[in-house]
Amino acid sequence: MDSTAPLAYAQAHQDDFVHELETLLRIPSVSTDPDHADDVQAAADWLAEHFRALGVADVEVLPTDGHPVVYAAHHPHDDAPTVLVYGHYDVQPPDPLDEWDHPPFEPTRVNGDLVARGACDDKGQMLMHVKALEAYLKSDTTPPVNLTFLIEGEEEVGSQHLSEVLDTYADRLDADLVLVSDTSMLAEGQPTVVYGLRGLAYVELTMQGPNRDLHSGLYGGAVENPINALSQLLADLHDENHHVTIPGFYDDVRPLTDEERAAIADLPFDEAHWLDEIGLDTARTENGYSILEAISVRPTLDVNGIWGGYTGEGAKTVLPAAAHAKVSMRLVPDQEPEAIYDALEEALQSRVPDTMTLTVERLHGGQPVLVEPDQPIMQAAAAALNATFDREPVFVRHGGSIPIIAEFQQRLGLDSVLMGFGLESDAIHSPNEKFGLDRYAKGIETIIHYYPELAKRLA
Ligand code: BES
Ligand code: MN
Ligand code: MN
Repeated sequence: MDSTAPLAYAQAHQDDFVHELETLLRIPSVSTDPDHADDVQAAADWLAEHFRALGVADVEVLPTDGHPVVYAAHHPHDDAPTVLVYGHYDVQPPDPLDEWDHPPFEPTRVNGDLVARGACDDKGQMLMHVKALEAYLKSDTTPPVNLTFLIEGEEEVGSQHLSEVLDTYADRLDADLVLVSDTSMLAEGQPTVVYGLRGLAYVELTMQGPNRDLHSGLYGGAVENPINALSQLLADLHDENHHVTIPGFYDDVRPLTDEERAAIADLPFDEAHWLDEIGLDTARTENGYSILEAISVRPTLDVNGIWGGYTGEGAKTVLPAAAHAKVSMRLVPDQEPEAIYDALEEALQSRVPDTMTLTVERLHGGQPVLVEPDQPIMQAAAAALNATFDREPVFVRHGGSIPIIAEFQQRLGLDSVLMGFGLESDAIHSPNEKFGLDRYAKGIETIIHYYPELAKRLA
């Protein structure tokens, strides 16, 4: 089949495609913030309306107990592969606001980049799939595959309600694979297929000491300080070799083969550039592992936030009643979030001083993912990327997490093709998030190529 007409349409309409992305980026669909619930709904409605305007007949905004899921289906064939496109229209909070050079929900073009919250993660990358379909439909070219879109509004808060949608609508979600653009490339200009993601287990800890904040002059010395104790507990979670000290933490980690380590070492990854970009000159990895191994195929534990006591202006002498921390662990195959939560909790509880109590609240988690790279749905991605970038793609495992991907495997039996166009310098979740407009265009082009490459291989 010939994709000349859709490719020409996409090229001719690139400006419109950018304008439409800007419109979507103006909707502050921050899923974690109840004050933005209407905006999240508005983003879902905008997207559904957009599908309808393209002439997609089967479009629904599926309600959930949380934010809605946008479903759209265009199935021109009785007998062709079906692609389930997954993405998310919700975004992270824009905080800290005063570090943005332009307001986060007023998309601004700067040197070929579009700067806005969600530009890369994931509105820009998600919309590329809608625009690729548009290029087919508006150039009167029947896409050589059936397409089902499932675009959710809760990815950034752990996809709590999407699993239920997968079960409820399983018959409508019948497909051959899931196609996702919500990951990044190994380097600028280096097309990348991601075949593994880390999982996640996230907890909030509260260390409780005395029943009220105390005067540190009257009580200090005889009352154990919860912030001191929590700090000690957290510090002890790593040893001098930067290994995690939770008993059993590494038990289920699938060992890397020599071939896998050699393949990682061969990847075109520039350690010095990677460090320079974040203002560091030294890395700190688990002993024995390279930077790329440490950020993609090894499990980790990190404190994300810690608070308690007095943090206002000046000095206040206080011995605080409690201390708090948020701790996340990135998991790799075959670690199970539930087992890791149990192991963490046991390790912590056994180390809590007898002067205080610790509570551990489990927030959200997700399983790690591995997809066999040597299969037609993945090779089709490599071919489509090659056609666009004129460069051989690399296959990598990435350290980020998209918890629903494991559920696509488990609940629907579907592997995911993670074909993303972000760069670490796009600063997702950070101030001044951006997406290169050249990559927005190339992503659309790649997706246009993907359908025939897939149809050819699955015929
Ligand atoms: N799209 C990201 C994940 C990602 C980014 C994977 C780049 C690979 C490369 C996703 O939106 C995200 O932010 N995931 C969260 C987990 C979620 C439960 C909040 C993460 O990885 O921290
Ligand atoms: Mn994302
Ligand atoms: Mn994200």
